[in-house]
Amino acid sequence: MLYRRMPIEIESPEQLGYGSIRNNLSESSYADAFFRDIPLDVDLRDLVLCYGPHAGHEGLRRLIAWDAAPQASSGPIRPEDVLLTVGAAGALFIIATTLLEKDDEIVVVRPNYATNIETPRAIGAKVRFIDLRFEDGFALDPEEVGRAIAPSTKYISVTYPHNPTGVRLEGGRLAELVQVAGNRGVRLLVDETYRDMVFGEQLPLAATASPDVISVSSLSKTYGLPGLRTGWIVCRDAQLMQRFLAAKEQMHICGPVVDEELAYRYFLHKSEYHGRIRADIAEKFGIVKMWMQQQDDFEWVQPGGGCVCFPRVRRPEDLDMDKFYRILLEKHGTYVGPGHWFDMPKHYMRIGYGWPTQAQLKEGLEALNKTLPEAG
Ligand SMILES: Cc1ncc(COP(=O)(O)O)c(C=O)c1O
Repeated sequence: MLYRRMPIEIESPEQLGYGSIRNNLSESSYADAFFRDIPLDVDLRDLVLCYGPHAGHEGLRRLIAWDAAPQASSGPIRPEDVLLTVGAAGALFIIATTLLEKDDEIVVVRPNYATNIETPRAIGAKVRFIDLRFEDGFALDPEEVGRAIAPSTKYISVTYPHNPTGVRLEGGRLAELVQVAGNRGVRLLVDETYRDMVFGEQLPLAATASPDVISVSSLSKTYGLPGLRTGWIVCRDAQLMQRFLAAKEQMHICGPVVDEELAYRYFLHKSEYHGRIRADIAEKFGIVKMWMQQQDDFEWVQPGGGCVCFPRVRRPEDLDMDKFYRILLEKHGTYVGPGHWFDMPKHYMRIGYGWPTQAQLKEGLEALNKTLPEAG
């Protein structure tokens, strides 16, 4: 496999040094939690640092299955349908390397979280893109997805609520996608890392719709726990789950027992955190929305979930975008995710509004306005 480092990783704030950024609007998750936020009614010194169950912490898998069950439309999710992974990133890697071989095809929605594109590329698979367009409100057309499926297509890869745009799948679109995939005999991967952050009514867990659907999620985005590196795959195809488990065992046998125990402890109280986090995200979203309403130079598609949006500069021909991002950081201490992190032109930018404090968010947004005339 020909691995290449992705710009989103090379230029990530943690690589740059958090200390060099005052207003960090580049993150795709809610504000990072502290260790003290994890309710611990056990003494971790009694934890045996053994190899854990290969599929992952049994209590946590039970909780994840239970969490999905209330929305189950065609059968509940059982703990056996859940495989813990090293973050959602680990899940996506397991899925790509299990399902794809060189010269196979995959249909991928673009823009997207970079791993969803880069791992298939590294495998040597042919990537067929479904380009979401600003002019269409970044909406996905399941029929277009259907037309992109070829005989050697192994799976369709979508992310909802979407990173970087924050748009959600409206109405029966998920059901349509499941049907399109099912009719053509290909699997559907739904990266649902932002599902707990959808505005309004939550979408059902995609894997409940059919055994051919694979759901991926983690504790990183909504709960600000990326350092626990705990994600999961949910899928009701038992044979496929055995292949995913084999891939995981060949990479690292099992997950880290300390991380999984902490994740379990947190998950037990997840709903308490969820309410608080949602309320904070709603306030921060209000700040961004109000800012956008005052803009002549930026335009956006209003998101329907998550904690990121993907506005663009209206008249990019007047601007040197490299200079724009340089001034924004060096003079105004503000960092956003430039379009090229997502295979998109540089006048698009991801603004993460869940991670910064409200004061940092406001200052960062003002910095965008100050920088525009300076980068002309
Ligand atoms: C859509 C999406 N999927 C997966 C990931 C990977 O997250 P993690 O491995 O921390 O769970 C990210 C991170 O940005 C993401 O945005």
